[in-house]
Amino acid sequence: MPKRYTPNDAWSQRAAKEGYRARSVYKLIELNERERLLRPGMTVLDCGAAPGSWLQFTAQQIGPKGLAIGIDRTPIEPIADNVRTIEADITDVDAVQSTLTTLEIDRVDLVLSDLAPNTSGVHDVDQWRSIELSQAVIAIAEQFLRPGGACVIKVLRGEDFDAFYRELKATWKDVKTARVEATRDRSTEVYVILRGKIRAA
Ligand SMILES: C[S@@+](CC[C@H](N)C(=O)[O-])C[C@H]1O[C@@H](n2cnc3c(N)ncnc32)[C@H](O)[C@@H]1O
Repeated sequence: MPKRYTPNDAWSQRAAKEGYRARSVYKLIELNERERLLRPGMTVLDCGAAPGSWLQFTAQQIGPKGLAIGIDRTPIEPIADNVRTIEADITDVDAVQSTLTTLEIDRVDLVLSDLAPNTSGVHDVDQWRSIELSQAVIAIAEQFLRPGGACVIKVLRGEDFDAFYRELKATWKDVKTARVEATRDRSTEVYVILRGKIRAA
């Protein structure tokens, strides 16, 4: 029988103890240790940012000279002076792009996405929705990511993943995947790390 999620698992307990809003923070912490993503002074765009644990950690790492912008369709409680949040649906790419432009954000150093679709219970459907969300993030990254910047996207593996991955390989110089410890055992999620955009898909 698959393991049931319990909000009292060790990661959740640790997050509560350390003042983070979600257990997902340990995924970003591990990715950051492995990939050296976050540095002081960076501008970071976090897609699917609610309730805000990635923003909390990012705000600490980028410091007062950095800026983190979190987007989610769910409101995010205020975090810190160097964090702004936008309530929007990421698949409305034009609206997100024009909101960022209105906020005078023209370049970011790093794009993060921990977006997760509402689960339907049918894995193929959820996996396809996860790829649609990822494609929206990539469209936003294409406009705002500075040359040399990195993009980290959570994707569910499944039938459509290989074609999606091939497309990424053809359009980015450096493409790799990472599975992190805080991911639940039965989850098919994987983080795709992209660097060096070659051309639009
Ligand atoms: C796993 S949670 C992110 C947790 C976050 N990284 C943190 O550390 O607090 C996934 C988020 O994706 C958001 N999401 C899913 N689909 C979305 C969409 N189409 N547009 C914007 N946000 C979306 C959900 O509202 C949810 O907050």
